Amino acid sequence: MGQDINAYLDGLLLSNYLTYWDYVHLDTLLTLQHPKTDFPDEEIFIMYHQITELYFKLSLNEFDQICRNGRVIGENGHNQGWNVHLQPAFFTERLRRINSYFEALTKSFEIMVQGMEKDQFLKFRMALLPASGFQSAQYRMIEIASTDMARLIQKDLRQTEGEKDNRSIEEMFESIYWKQGATEAASGKKTLTLNQFEEKYSARLIQMARDYAPKNIWQKYLGLSVEDQKDPELVRQLRQLDVNVNVNWPLQHYKSAVRYLASKEGDAPATGGTNWQKYLPPRLQLRVFYPSLWSEEELKNWGRGWVEEVLVDHIKVKG
Ligand code: HEM
Repeated sequence: MGQDINAYLDGLLLSNYLTYWDYVHLDTLLTLQHPKTDFPDEEIFIMYHQITELYFKLSLNEFDQICRNGRVIGENGHNQGWNVHLQPAFFTERLRRINSYFEALTKSFEIMVQGMEKDQFLKFRMALLPASGFQSAQYRMIEIASTDMARLIQKDLRQTEGEKDNRSIEEMFESIYWKQGATEAASGKKTLTLNQFEEKYSARLIQMARDYAPKNIWQKYLGLSVEDQKDPELVRQLRQLDVNVNVNWPLQHYKSAVRYLASKEGDAPATGGTNWQKYLPPRLQLRVFYPSLWSEEELKNWGRGWVEEVLVDHIKVKG
């Protein structure tokens, strides 16, 4: 590289030893929790959201690598750009990682469901209005990286599988499922939660949707040879991703909404203002990234078994 190696060695000898706490920025990390109330359980709520966002970031890091075909690292350990072609084994392995992140989140969601006192939660949440996990941009980015925009449109405006969708990215973005979820049906007015989210993130999400239109996970899969597309492990990981993001995590999350917001006296409204009982269940949303990897029967029962279980609990709570 034409650099003086001795100068670098001097630098190495003179610089301070690396410590664990500096490397992981521990002091900063541990000062990022700022409860809005004195209820001790609010710390759990904040930290579990932060943990989730870190897992989302881990996932997006893998999506980025798949969609760019994987980084080339030279013999000298430095970045040499991106591969020209995506290797199916790399694709499968990176999907497996994303699945393991989501599985960790799905399992650990119990921390939310059982881990806070309901009375405390119902009080401190009032200090958080109109903020909602609904405003998690990384969650939306995971969806955009996973599939075509046409799959993220609210279900009654989706075209049937196999039909070409000629709508522009901007038009599709206007019909994306979560906008409808946070719009009052009677007045057609967007909730404040949605307005604030759009103001901060719409431009960025639309740009991402444009960038990922030719290189999202589904397009990467279609870009493989017919032979590679049949690889059972790859197909298994894709199906697992679909279930993890669109059924398993949303169901655990829905379970927490039922646990805290449902009551005999009537369900509490969500901080983000959605009609959460109708909005959150995967069986009603029917979000599916890769419908052609599922049988008709499987699609018909999307999210059903689980939802029924959660709903039974809900009915029990309501008495
Ligand atoms: C006690 C725990 C929780 C409850 C009761 C709860 C409740 C809700 C409700 C009612 C909604 C619907 C939007 C609204 O009107 O506010 C929602 C959306 C959402 N929440 Fe949570 N939430 C909890 C924990 C979490 C956690 C830990 C995360 C992690 C980041 C999260 C992420 C999300 C996301 C991404 C959405 C949008 C889902 C979608 O659009 O389908 N939530 N939550």
